[in-house]
Formats: sequence, C-alpha cells, structure tokens
Amino acid sequence: RKRIVSGVQPTGTIHLGNYLGAIKNWIPLQNTYDTFFFIVDLHAITLPYETQQLFKATRDTAAIYLACGVDTSKASVFVQSHVRAHSELMWLLSSATPIGWLNKMIQFKEKSRKVGDENVGVALLTYPVLMASDILLYQSDFVPVGEDQKQHLELTRELAERVNYLYGGRKWKKLGGRGGAIFKVPEPLIPPEGARVMSLTDGCSKMSKSASSDQSRINLLDPKDVIANKIKRCKTDSFPGLEFDNPERPECNNLLTIYQLMSGRTKEEVAQECQGMNWGVFKRILTDALIDHLHPIQVRYEEIMSDSAYLDRLLAEGATKAADIADATLNNVYQAMGFLRR
Ligand code: TYM
Repeated sequence: RKRIVSGVQPTGTIHLGNYLGAIKNWIPLQNTYDTFFFIVDLHAITLPYETQQLFKATRDTAAIYLACGVDTSKASVFVQSHVRAHSELMWLLSSATPIGWLNKMIQFKEKSRKVGDENVGVALLTYPVLMASDILLYQSDFVPVGEDQKQHLELTRELAERVNYLYGGRKWKKLGGRGGAIFKVPEPLIPPEGARVMSLTDGCSKMSKSASSDQSRINLLDPKDVIANKIKRCKTDSFPGLEFDNPERPECNNLLTIYQLMSGRTKEEVAQECQGMNWGVFKRILTDALIDHLHPIQVRYEEIMSDSAYLDRLLAEGATKAADIADATLNNVYQAMGFLRR
C-alpha cells in the first residue's frame, strides 16, 4: 500500500487552519493508505518555548488527532522524538543540503524576522531538513499539508533526488541496495479548499498559532461562547450580499469557505444559500455550523484526556511500529553513504 505521513507542531493550540488544511483531510486517507501521523515535538523547539508547556502540548495534540477521527487501529500515531531515526537521518541529510536552499525558505525568513536576530537558532534554519527526514524515512508517497508547507515539500523532493543521485544509482546497487533509489520522492497533497485559512481579523494574513491576538483564530477547543464572540467580532466588509472569490473581499471568501467546510456543503450550495444574506444572518449560521462541527470533537478530546496513561500507551505502540520502518530506511542510508556498520 502507498504511504502517507503528516504532522503538526505541539505549539500553542491547534486552530481551524491546522484542522482544515491538514488533520481533517487525514481521516479518509486512513482506509486506503498506510498512514503515519506524528506530533512533531522536535520542530517545536526551533523558536523560544516554555519547557513546561511542551509535554502538555504534545499530549494535547495527540488527543486532538484522535478526537478528530485519527484511528490508531489503522494509522501509526506517535511522537517524533520517540523515534530516534528522525534526528539521526537529519544529520546525514544535512550534509547533502546546500545552505542556499535553506536560506531561501519563506518560513525561515518570516519567523526569523519575528523573533529578532539574537533569537534565531541554527535549528530554525535547518528545520526543513528535519521535516525531510520525517517524510523520507517512511518512503512516503503523499504528504497531506496546508499550502504554507509547499516550499518545504519542494525542498524535500529536491533533497531526495539529490541523495538518490549522490549515493544511489549504480554505486548503491554495488553495495547490495535494491533498485536505484534510496528514497521515494514524495508529493504534497494540498486540499482544493481550506489549504490557506485566513485570520478572522485580517483576510489577507494566514490564521496562525503565533499571531498575538487570539481573536484572529478559532481554536479547536474554544468553548461555544468564545466561538460565538470571535465570529461576532470578526472582520467583514460593507459590500451587499456575500460571494466567493472576489479579490476585494478576502474576509468574505474566507468566512464562506469556513462555513462550507464546517457544514459539509458544496461551494455551489453555499454560494447560492448565502448570496442574498447580510452579515448578521450569516454570522449566526456560521457560528452554529462551527459549534455543531467542533462540539463532538471537544467531547471526545475530554474523554481521551481523562485517561492519559492509555493515551501514552497508544503513543508508545505507534512509536514501536514506526521505528521498525524508520530504522530500516536509516540503515540503508548509512550503508549507501559508506559507513561501516556494526
Ligand atoms: P504546523 O504545525 O505549522 O501546521 C500543521 C499543519 O497545518 C497546516 N496549516 C494551515 N492550513 C491551512 N490554513 C492555515 N492557516 C494553516 N496553518 C497551518 C500546515 O500547512 C500543516 O499541514 N513543518 C510542519 C510540520 C511538519 C510536517 C512534517 C508536516 C514537520 N514534519 C512532515 C508534514 C510532514 C509545520 O510546522 O506545520
């Protein structure tokens, strides 16, 4: 079966962008693919963070995966740092990564600007190499992510090809490797809608965990009254009626898209239903759709969190399954790169 991997950083709370751009799209894939969903804790230390928050956020994120419908009888769910091959492969890959590729990364530029030079650790720069390890270790075919990860996926593909070229091919065959390639070259799976959920307070910037105002995002665990309040206060415009895809109305397009994905309707149905509405009426149906969709997730989340020993056990099992596959790839890479093995 073809393989799928993806992950979310355990930083702050999981918001609607993470859900619509990534987690929600993982669920149907579990039935037809071998799926690996991890909590990327090693990525979460690339910006200044609170140590007491990290382990809490790691469990929280795992519980949210399960509450959203990730099923551990089908998918391997685990914590990135529990499978040591991720960090180990990263070192090997970093030797094959031109520094210029990393300097070009938009997220690196944005994040380093935000935290200021003195807080930019080396790991913020080399972060995409770790992400490439996450993906290449499992010989993944597809990686379901939001649009902001596209550039990292492109780098992953280029790196896979470069390593295949440098250490694969004939040289690799002579060492006993099967076929020519060390790594499969993965493809991103970016959803047609929801790949870039925008802020509630500015339709031109992305909904993000790091935005200072919590009003700018809906968190998956926001209580009903908080959701209602955020939608009540969110930015709108003064055009008549509601419509998709008008570049002068980014907020309108974003809110209609959220409504569409939360209510499970098609774009055409929503366009028709909402074209004559005013903001007051629309905000009420949007609030209801959000609460109806998120409430059952919140109930399941509470249940899962009430037994953290069980959750930890599931994560341990997931890590064991993942490590088998990851270690096999890692061994091949060591061998292909000419290391003396024990
Ligand atoms: P992270 O934790 O920033 O985001 C997790 C997922 O959510 C998507 N996303 C969004 N989608 C739509 N609209 C938004 N406003 C929005 N904000 C975030 C992201 O695209 C992502 O899919 N580097 C990754 C984590 C990672 C990873 C991996 C992913 C590490 N290793 C291997 C896939 C495979 C990140 O920081 O995502």
